[in-house]
Amino acid sequence: MTETPFAARRHPLGTVELVPIATAAIPEIATRMAAIDPWARLRRPAAAMAERIAVPDPGAHRFSIESDGAILGYVSIRHPFLRGPYLEQIAIFPEAQRRGLARRVLDWMAGEVEGLESNLWLCVTEWNEGARATYRALGFDEVAPLPDLVAPGQSEIFMRRRLDAAPAA
Ligand SMILES: CC(C)(COP(=O)(O)OP(=O)(O)OC[C@H]1O[C@@H](n2cnc3c(N)ncnc32)[C@H](O)[C@@H]1OP(=O)(O)O)[C@@H](O)C(=O)NCCC(=O)NCCS
Repeated sequence: MTETPFAARRHPLGTVELVPIATAAIPEIATRMAAIDPWARLRRPAAAMAERIAVPDPGAHRFSIESDGAILGYVSIRHPFLRGPYLEQIAIFPEAQRRGLARRVLDWMAGEVEGLESNLWLCVTEWNEGARATYRALGFDEVAPLPDLVAPGQSEIFMRRRLDAAPAA
């Protein structure tokens, strides 16, 4: 039987690997995410971040990004979504940024649905310029602002990367 996309197993990505989220890893990931933007600026408490990562959800595929047992980041992908998966959360911790990890994760995400789906989706907060630049560099187009979605007075930008699959009927 062919494996379903985003299977809960280790996925090697060059020098790092995606590891299905382990309960023991959640406090460290949540604490580190709460300390960096956009979550720091939004004042998301680490406990709330941890709760969101831990809540059972069969549609969410959650992985720590690891190298030699060290956690370098976190990614959560929602699939199925809208004729393609949705990048729900990604955090590459500061010491691992600008080393191509987000590029690898997004290319893996595309590879998991190659020939099956015709889009990747995500949202980015309007003032998160680093992430917006990253997603533009990785082939995403800004589709529409979604005002007040996450916090009053700010917009999330819905972004789409088209894939080469034929649209499903
Ligand atoms: C945004 C984020 C995921 C990018 O991850 P990353 O692994 O550093 O990105 P990559 O190294 O794969 O970068 C890919 C390309 O994106 C662009 N890019 C990455 N970070 C950038 C930044 N801060 N400013 C401008 N462009 C950037 C570059 O073009 C880069 O290619 P280059 O390194 O060859 O120049 C990471 O900085 C992060 O986790 N930030 C904090 C949390 C966050 O904002 N998450 C996203 C919420 S929507």
